[in-house]
Amino acid sequence: MTSDGLLLAIETSCDDTCAAVLDGRRILSNVISSQAKAHEGFGGVVPEVAARHHLELVEPVVEAALAEAGVTLDEIEAVAATVGPGLIGALLVGISAAKGIAAARRLPFIPVDHLQGHVAANFLEPEPLEPPFLCLIASGGHTMLCGVRDHEGYELLGQTLDDAAGEAFDKSARLLGLGYPGGPLIQKEAEGGDPEAFEMPVAMARGPGLDFSFSGLKTAVLYRCRELGPVGVEERKADVAASFQAAVVEQLRTKLKRALKGGEWGAVALGGGVAANGPLREAVAALCEEMGLRLKLVPIALCTDNAAMIAAAARYVEPIPYPDYLGYDAFASGEKTAAVAH
Ligand code: KG4
Ligand code: ZN
Repeated sequence: MTSDGLLLAIETSCDDTCAAVLDGRRILSNVISSQAKAHEGFGGVVPEVAARHHLELVEPVVEAALAEAGVTLDEIEAVAATVGPGLIGALLVGISAAKGIAAARRLPFIPVDHLQGHVAANFLEPEPLEPPFLCLIASGGHTMLCGVRDHEGYELLGQTLDDAAGEAFDKSARLLGLGYPGGPLIQKEAEGGDPEAFEMPVAMARGPGLDFSFSGLKTAVLYRCRELGPVGVEERKADVAASFQAAVVEQLRTKLKRALKGGEWGAVALGGGVAANGPLREAVAALCEEMGLRLKLVPIALCTDNAAMIAAAARYVEPIPYPDYLGYDAFASGEKTAAVAH
């Protein structure tokens, strides 16, 4: 099913408070208020701090999204929100806000799976990508290969067995004293480093499997830091960052290539925060060229968490009429919301 018309979407599954207004596939506004500053002292997202910040930010962010789109709430036809997976307290703020806005106007509410949102970022204007395609999603909470055959869901072909790729970036950045979020900081640091300076493990480089593993890589960074000592880490930070990043990119590229060889995929898409990584984009672009495949790289603002991608996914979810959604809950794990995955 598809719903056209003006849609307001809210995304609060992690540490970004996001709201967007879409007219069909066209983004009228996509407002993201990052809480990164609130969490950087902790080296990661503190769930309770995230929920409290969402509570303060959700109203101004929704107002900003409406103002930027040049529409009022009276023109909105449905309200969507991420219902999981994510931090439960953070999700509840977004869902409650969305249900409240919808209920006050007797509008339908559309529950959206966060990961389906990352897939659906590819359906947005300009140059929307139509299924079938293979989508690699690498974020702070997930790393997975999705076979996308329609707009409604995806087939999970492989996923991480331990840490997510973004989590490995964040934890390694913390070990290197670089701050949070780690991905962009490691990428920047790595620019001045030698990717071959240190040997780093590429998990399951051989064999047919499509799953990922990044915890060994994080441990390798820990051991290199211990061997180097504080002064050595300062001196060789760029080399460690570059070697780590190269190993993450190599693992993602290897599994992606393996999945592509096993299926009839005409196009490849990248999603999730780690898809903002320059060397990963370059490696996947080279792979696609080598294999003669179309590559869709969504703008970086649509790779990291945002509400436009939630609205894009919402178009293919059955809206729940008022008042049936008033008791609708949030889900920390993907099991309930993964009804979309098939
Ligand atoms: O999709 P996202 O915004 O939130 C989650 O759903 O997790 O992804 C955030 C993750 C963080 O771990 C962050 O370090 C990583 O994406 N990230 C990057 C880059 N930009 C963000 N990782 C590598 N290189 C980047 N340039
Ligand atoms: Zn995400």
